[in-house]
Parts: sequence; C-alpha cells; structure tokens
Amino acid sequence: MASIDRSVIQKVERLRKELHRHDYLYYVKAEPEINDEQYDTMMRELQELEIKYPELITPDSPTFRVGGEPTKEFPTVTHEIPMLSLSNTYSEEDIKDFDRRVRSLLPQRQFKYVCELKFDGVSLSLRYRNGVLTLGVTRGDGVQGDDITANVKTIRSVPLRLKTSEPALLDCEVRGEVIMNRKDFKRMNEERERTGEKTFINPRNSTAGTLKMQDPKVVATRPLRFFAYFLRTERKQLKNHYENLKTLTTLGFLVDEHARLYTSIDGVIDHWKRFEEKRESFPFDIDGIVVKVDSLQQQETLGAIAKSPRWAIACKFTSRKAETRLNDIRLQVGRIGTITPVADLEPVFIGGTTVSRASLYNEDYIRELDIRVGDMVIVERGGDVIPKITSVVMEKRPKGIKPFRFPTKCPECKAQLIRLQGEANYFCENEECPQQIRGRIEHWASRGAMDIEGLGEAVVDQLVDKKFVKSVADLYHLHKHREELIALDRWGEKSVQNLLDGIEQSKQRPFHRVLYSLGIRHVGSSIAPVLVEHFPSIDALMKTTLDELQSVHEIGPKIAESIIHFFQNTHNRLLIERLRKAGLSLSAEKKKLNGKLAGKTFVITGTLSSMTRDQAKELIEGQGGRVASGVSKQVDALIVGEDAGSKLEKATTLGIELWDEDRFLKIVKVRKNKD
Ligand code: IVH
Repeated sequence: MASIDRSVIQKVERLRKELHRHDYLYYVKAEPEINDEQYDTMMRELQELEIKYPELITPDSPTFRVGGEPTKEFPTVTHEIPMLSLSNTYSEEDIKDFDRRVRSLLPQRQFKYVCELKFDGVSLSLRYRNGVLTLGVTRGDGVQGDDITANVKTIRSVPLRLKTSEPALLDCEVRGEVIMNRKDFKRMNEERERTGEKTFINPRNSTAGTLKMQDPKVVATRPLRFFAYFLRTERKQLKNHYENLKTLTTLGFLVDEHARLYTSIDGVIDHWKRFEEKRESFPFDIDGIVVKVDSLQQQETLGAIAKSPRWAIACKFTSRKAETRLNDIRLQVGRIGTITPVADLEPVFIGGTTVSRASLYNEDYIRELDIRVGDMVIVERGGDVIPKITSVVMEKRPKGIKPFRFPTKCPECKAQLIRLQGEANYFCENEECPQQIRGRIEHWASRGAMDIEGLGEAVVDQLVDKKFVKSVADLYHLHKHREELIALDRWGEKSVQNLLDGIEQSKQRPFHRVLYSLGIRHVGSSIAPVLVEHFPSIDALMKTTLDELQSVHEIGPKIAESIIHFFQNTHNRLLIERLRKAGLSLSAEKKKLNGKLAGKTFVITGTLSSMTRDQAKELIEGQGGRVASGVSKQVDALIVGEDAGSKLEKATTLGIELWDEDRFLKIVKVRKNKD
C-alpha cells in the first residue's frame, strides 16, 4: 500500500462513498440525484483504479455491483438460527384462533401485533461483520442454505456496508425477501421472447432462477430488489420487531413502509382486508400479510412448533390460481411471423376477472409440462402478467387424449411453418400473411415506435381488411383514400383528419425510432439508438457487413445476422425507398452543438398540457439538450408541469432555474421555426 499515492487512495475512497450513496438514493429512497451516465462514469473510474491497484479492492466495493468472477458451486452454509416458515391461513376464523392461542400463552400480558406485507419472492439471509456484507445465503432447507454472496452483492438495494457506526449493530444478521417488480419482469420476459430465450413463469420463479445463476455479471443485469424484515444481533438486546424495522431503515435497507402496529385482532383483520383490496396497486407481487407479535421477549416465550413460530402467521389473499379445462390450443401469428400457441380455456374466475385465454409460449413449454387438449390445468394470474398454465392435474387426465402435435401450417395463410435450429419458436415465412401485415402496422404505430395517435388495433384491422394498407409505407399515401375512409363505419371527417394528421406528424420521428419501428428481429428500442450511433444513416446500415456490425460492443451474432438478413430482402429494400420518398428521417441529425439547449441538462416534472414527456424529451434532445431523471446540482433547469411534486421542492431548495410550460415552448419553438 505504501507505494500507492495518497491521492489515489483518497480518490478510490471518495468514489466508493459516492457510489454507495447514489445506489442508496436510487434504489432505496427512489430519489436519484444524478443520471445513469454520471453514475456509469464514476463506476468506470473506480473499476479502472481497482484494475490498476488491485490491493485497494475491499469486499464492500461498489464494483461488485456489476458482478464478480463466476462461481462453479455454491458452498453450503449452516444458518446460525434456522430459517422457519410461516403457517398460512385464508380465513378470519383462523386469524381469531391464532389470536386466542397467543392470548392463552401470554396470559394477563399486554401485547401488540405488527402487520406487514407478505412479499411473494425468495427469502435470503445476510450476514454483516464489522458493518460489511460478508455472506448472502439462501433459505435452503431452513437449516442449511447456499452461499450466493457474489450474486447478492449485485442487488443494489442490499447495502454492502451498513449506514451506521453503532458498534452493536455492525455485526448482525438481516433477513428479508428478494423480489422483482412486475413491470421489470414483464420487460425482461419480452426481451427474452424477442431474443428467442426461454421466458419465466412469474416474477418469483425468475427471482429464484436468477439467484442461482453462476455468473454474477448476468445476475447484475436482472432487476432484483431486497426488502428486509428481520434483524438479529448478539451484541445488543433488541426489544421489539417494529423498532427493528425502523432500525433496518436507518441501516440503509428497503423496508415495507406499510407496516403497522395493532393492539387488537380486529385491527389486524381490517388491515388484511384493506391490503387485499390494494394488492394490485403494488409494483410487486404480494400474496398476503404477515402478522407478528411485536415484543421479541414474548416471541421467545411463544416459541415454535415444528417449523413455524407460534408468534407469527401468514394471512394469505384469495388465491390467484384456479383449475379449469383446456378446450383448445390456437396459434397466434406475430408481426415477424413468430407463432405463439395460446390456450383456449373453459372460462374461470380468478382473483376478480374471468380468464379464458393463457399464453403457452412455444412448443417446448407445452412439451415440458405435457399439456394436452382436454386436460384439467392450473392457471395462474399475477397482476398485469398474462395468465399462464403452470401445471397439469395429471390425476384428472381423460383417458386416451394425445400429446399436442404442433401444426405444420400457418393458421392464417396456410404457409408451411418452420422452426430453425436453436430457436424456441416456429415461424410463418410468408411476409404477405395478413396477420403479419396487421402486426407490422400495429407495431409501427405503437408508443415508443412511430407513436401514431388513433391508429390502434381496430383501425389497423379496418385499413388492412379494406386493402388501403398492405405495408407501413402505404400509411403515407392514405390521404388518397380520404373520402372512402370518411364513408366507412364509425368514421367521420374529423376522426379521419386526426388520423391523417397523426400519420403526417410521425414523419418527424428521429431515425432511431424509425429503425426500431421497422420491426427488425432482435432490434428493440434500446438497440436501435446504439446502431444509429455507429451507423448514422440507413444507407450506412444497409452497406455494412456482419463483421462490422459485430465489432460494436452491444451487438452479438444474433442481432447482426438479423440485420443483414433484413436488408438482404428485396421487399424490405423497396420499403426503405418508399419511406425515403415519403420524407421520413433515415439518418441521424448532427447534434446541434451550437443550439440554445446544447450541453444543458433538464428534468421534467408534473404533467405538461401540450405534449407527453417523451415528446418534450425529443424536443430537448433535438436542440442538443439532455434530460435527466432526477434533480441534482448538475441540472440547469426544471421544466414544471401541473401537479409537480418533490422534484419541484428539491429544485427550489437547490436554487435551480424553473421553466413553466410556456417558457419551454417559446424556447423550443423559436429554435424549431428557425430550423
Ligand atoms: S418472516 C418465521 N416476513 O414467507 C418468520 N416472511 O413461509 C418467517 N415472507 O420463507 C419469515 N414476506 O420467504 C416474514 N414480511 C415477511 C415476509 C415473509 C414474505 C416469506 C419468507 C418466508 C415465507 C414464510
């Protein structure tokens, strides 16, 4: 260490402290102060210094967040105290019984219950020594679990160092649940579907699968979160659970902020019912509430029977699983010809809605679960996740039903279906397949793509059925059918004009949006801007080679091959020419380095009345500015819409310039007209 310059050591320490702080602000407090780019720059700087001076690496370094070395096997670790499970109940009567039991075992004593969320995730035990995370262990069989420390270190809401200097708390065990938000899960599954990888059944399964992966670098890319609900230390007499939850917050953990204390079981039952009603409003899956006796001393008196404590109970919500018959398996044709099998179910009521369809993903999924038409199946629904069949009730299988044979012809156009080696899906290769045409146009018009207002599914169906559009390029000639459109069912002069205006406005979308909208397989909304950065025009992209494409860091062989394949197709080349003629942006504009907003950073808060946030962002970027997600000193101005909240408060405290919508419009408009 003596040979390392003092200033380097100080720099490493400062970077670490800052990165820890920003992880906490982003993942625990949800109040980021810097943008991703600024964070990445600091992380890279620290990584470079650690490569140069490996002796400076500490076990709590934020560089572990992006993943350490792969592990072959997870060593087995014995829990210092067993990880028990909870007994479950679904009824009010059982909850009252639980209360009676507690009262009989704690006669003449005052006590309180803590009610908290029951996270539907995977439990985890963390050990801290001297304030530093040293071990992350799965529950396993409750007595022994797997040491998955390297994976756990990548979970940004797990503090690598506790935010305390209280000596008694520096050596402790924290337990809690690892979860994945439904939105993150959905996005991840969509991405996997696009790249032909196997999709996960639900957020819990995908969390469990992720934690057991051998490469922490992959784990680091998965959106895991950790909620703490248990604290233990031998160096201090902890008094009650509710206080422990507060302590966990101060130590830097995410903790259920809805946890409440009750003195009567009626309060508990009321809490359970209220949260059952609210369950969909949480960004993650919860499957009940957990009721715990608050005093730790009383918990000890109550003890445990078998594997469950007598001082706690899980009050579950009505199940979102149901059994029903699979009447048929139908095939859906996607916009790029991907065939997805869909289950046609005997309608069944699950958690508030009737379910009659469920996704079956692909042939392998059907084969692995051995799903057959006529089977009784278990269907699960979770939040906004599409219902899915999770198992077959084998005991109820009707005699003589045959395994499902995947059809060989497209249900829409009868073309031969093909399944390429290494791909999970079958494809219909007929580009004229009407279902693909509809899908391509719907994708083109969708949010994040060309964002054409008024061009939803039903309108696309009408336009394709009437043969006004066969390709997305036809949309830009739709004005020729103006009168015929007005004469159609449910259309009038105004709605037709709105649609035509929407189509016209879409010509302003930047090149990366057009590229994404083309629907090239594996070119999603995050890859398109990367491509544009390296190939600033469609001509450059059409001319490129496989090798050149693959030399771009983010582009692997699958994406590269798909791009080459797309532009080799004559139909697609013709389409590009037609789009060029229609006046769409097929090259990236040079960054306006001398623009009024050049080099400036903005944050948008509240609702703007004349445009969406995405549109505002586009305008700012068009003028060379940048949009950050959180307010910090680096921000030049806050654009304030209606109902602005904490960002406005923070910007005011930091003395950041505030622009109302009028001022913003004036500035971008001035520039726009000049352009
Ligand atoms: S307390 C004995 N609190 O539910 C104490 N568990 O069957 C057990 N869970 O394995 C843990 N949310 O994975 C507790 N707020 C919460 C919980 C919770 C979810 C899970 C945990 C445990 C299972 C109990």
